[in-house]
Amino acid sequence: KPLVFSGVQPTGNLHLGNYLGAIRKFVALQQNNDCIYCVVDLHAITAQLVHDDLRGQIRSIAAAFIASGIDPNKHIVFNQSAVPQHAELAWVFNCVARIGWMNRMTQFKDKAGKDRENASLGLLAYPSLMAADILVYRATHVPVGDDQKQHLELARDIAQKFNIDFQEKIRAAGTGVDMVVGEEPIHGFFPLVEPLIEGPAPRVMSLRDGTKKMSKSDPSDLSRINLMDDADEILKKIRKAKTDPEGLPSDVEGLKGRPEADNLVGIYAALAEKSKADVLSEFGGQQFSVFKPALADLAVHVLAPITSEMRRLMDDTSHIDAILKDGGERARARAEAVMNDVFDIVGFLR
Ligand code: TYM
Repeated sequence: KPLVFSGVQPTGNLHLGNYLGAIRKFVALQQNNDCIYCVVDLHAITAQLVHDDLRGQIRSIAAAFIASGIDPNKHIVFNQSAVPQHAELAWVFNCVARIGWMNRMTQFKDKAGKDRENASLGLLAYPSLMAADILVYRATHVPVGDDQKQHLELARDIAQKFNIDFQEKIRAAGTGVDMVVGEEPIHGFFPLVEPLIEGPAPRVMSLRDGTKKMSKSDPSDLSRINLMDDADEILKKIRKAKTDPEGLPSDVEGLKGRPEADNLVGIYAALAEKSKADVLSEFGGQQFSVFKPALADLAVHVLAPITSEMRRLMDDTSHIDAILKDGGERARARAEAVMNDVFDIVGFLR
């Protein structure tokens, strides 16, 4: 049975990339699946140890989930540190994964920068904790933006190595399932997760540079639309968004080599739930002076109700805290059952 898991870090402001690339997909997946959505606070201390208001950040991600339409009663919304099994499984995975696998992660290379020897050990091991987040529920489907693809491939590698290395133990424990890896039939414990990356906006780019992804850590606030921005800020940022001097092309082919135009059309299409071709059949031949105000209106139309609901939820945090507490308890019950099986397979005396 499919089980959906995904996580968002409580670091910095949530932006349109997080919303279109991830959170909106979380909302849609609730329809036909059992879903677990996590505020990954343990991950938040990997790149920066001390935060001004980590608790507030955690609550604001949870508020964004709820305000966007995630139902915490039918599904599970919680913060990672409430379920100690994430860290326990991450330890086992640290011993499954190889240092070389971690060293190859492009996100680690980007975040660690030149002084790699001085990056935290947590930043290097980050993908191992991420694999544990998913697999401590034996989740099968993970909606994320394009930038998380490599981490999910690593989660598959970890699951596969665990399944193969512990093959006999899994069989003896009787907790595994028959599965096929490539062509090989094996008896495994962890599923090989399926990334759900496709969608209208798997990679939203910076408004200042169409070749860089929109990111929480970009020093320029003009580069992103934050979920908490008001209508005036959204209008200003879209008006100032970088473009080239030409008008909009009449077909998708015409967006080639024009990253900024491509990005704005992609954002419009995602917000309107249309294809880029549909957007261009409406705006092809028009100037950006016409397209940008239309895009700003649409962005405000979609985001304003979410922003105002987030503000309302953040006014009195007791509601959010109660949701997280309840979600944490339900998540923990499931994770505990899986970890009992894992410790049994590994051979720890319980
Ligand atoms: P994070 O917190 O950086 O981002 C949250 C989600 O937003 C997506 N995203 C984007 N999508 C499209 N365009 C963009 N410009 C853009 N920027 C961010 C991300 O792909 C992500 O889906 N490692 C993860 C958090 C995590 C996780 C997990 C995710 C921890 N454990 C387990 C899934 C499953 C991260 O740092 O996401």
